[in-house]
This record gives sequence, structure tokens and C-alpha cells, in this order.
Amino acid sequence: MEAIIRTENLSRDFVSGRDVVHALKNVNIEIMKGQLTILRGRSGSGKTTLINLLGALDQPTSGKIYFNDTEITKLSEQKRDELRRTNMGFVFQSVALISMMSAYENVEFGLRIAGYPAADRRKRAVECLNLVGLGKRIDHRPHELSGGEQQRVAIARAMAHKPAVIFADEPTAELDTAMGLQVVRLFKKLVTEEGLTVVMTTHDPAMMEIGDRVYTLEDGEVVNE
Ligand SMILES: Nc1ncnc2c1ncn2[C@@H]1O[C@H](COP(=O)(O)OP(=O)(O)O)[C@@H](O)[C@H]1O
Ligand SMILES: [Mg+2]
Repeated sequence: MEAIIRTENLSRDFVSGRDVVHALKNVNIEIMKGQLTILRGRSGSGKTTLINLLGALDQPTSGKIYFNDTEITKLSEQKRDELRRTNMGFVFQSVALISMMSAYENVEFGLRIAGYPAADRRKRAVECLNLVGLGKRIDHRPHELSGGEQQRVAIARAMAHKPAVIFADEPTAELDTAMGLQVVRLFKKLVTEEGLTVVMTTHDPAMMEIGDRVYTLEDGEVVNE
């Protein structure tokens, strides 16, 4: 079992006016390759702060993050951008699809941004939409799809360029329980059958059984594993 991401005493403070919020305090976790890792905790516990740091979208106040052997907290912003574009995929709470584009075009556009070879984009986009169970909906626009289906398009887009890790911050928060479970099961299937590595946050206790590894956050601290 190999860790793809590892943190060392990760802390993140936010200063607003005279107040300092200690959003993360000395977090030491490992994200294992080929696993579904769940970061769980109440609203305000630090999940988004942590997943943004793991995904190189933010920098810690102190501590280190290693991505394989590279200390990403030491990289220039440009290098971190590049790492993110080529090695990471993101799924957010509100599905951020482009409304003028079909499911297929959304995924293809993501591939273009990631610099995926032009000749292979069409095949890869269709392949990913099939993997998320939307092979018959590739020409549908977002408004012609259910919330759960839209989130599946977002997952196809996040995985299409074959990133080493996919980060999903509360991808089920705006879905009803049944659709939310479908989305998490899909992540599980992609991990088990396609060998993807997924990090997902949730405040829903029902979701945690599906994770290979669960870290619980309370007030910015990891309280159990
Ligand atoms: N940009 C920010 N400025 C000030 N405080 C913030 C900022 N981002 C998050 N926080 C605070 O950090 C804590 C953790 O927030 P967050 O990581 O968003 O929690 P979660 O995702 O678990 O709901 C909260 O107290 C939140 O108010
Ligand atoms: Mg959050």
C-alpha cells in the first residue's frame, strides 16, 4: 500500500479582522493510492480547508504536504498550477458544468484544458461518460439531466485526463439521499474497478461505510482514523 499524498503537522489559520480561526491544527494524514478516502466532520470542522490544501488550491500556515516525493508546499505557484492541471481532478458541491455545452462537450473541454492529446479526446470523453453510466446521454445539456446525472458528468470530466487523484468536496450535499449514494457508489466503483484514487468530504454519517479509509475532523483536528 503506497501513499500518494502525505501531510506533516499541517496547520491553516485564517485571520479576519482581530480574530484568528485555527481551521486546521497539526493534521497528519496519508492518502493511499487506489483507495477512496473520506474526510468527514460537521460543518466548520475544516474539511474544505483540508481538501483545498491536499489539492494544492491553498497553502498552509505551517506544515508540509508531499505528493509522492515532491513537497508541494515548497513549489512555486506556477508549478502547483501545473501539478493540479495534469495530476488532479476536482468535483465540487455545486456542479459547475457549462450550461451551453452538452455532456460530451463538457468532458471534451476539460480534456482540452488539461492538454490531453487532441486526437484521443473524443474517444476518451465518450469512454468516461460510459464509465459513469451516461453513455446514452452524451448529447444532453446539463438542464436536460437530473442533479445526480450532472454530478456524474462532473465526475467524468474530473477523471478524463487520468489524474493521479480526484478530490470531491461534498459532492453529494445538493443531492437527495438516493442520488447522493449513487454518486458515492460510483466513486467506489471507479476506485475498485478503474484503480482511481479519490478523496471525498462529507458531513453525512451514512456515507462513511463506503470509504476505504475515513478521517474524522473536529474543530480542525483529526480525531480518529
Ligand atoms: N477564508 C476564510 N476566512 C476566515 N475563516 C475561514 C475561511 N475559510 C474557512 N474559515 C473557517 O475555518 C473553519 C473551517 O472551515 P471549512 O474548512 O470550510 O469547514 P467545513 O468544510 O468542514 O465546513 C470554519 O470555522 C470557517 O469559518
Ligand atoms: Mg466545506
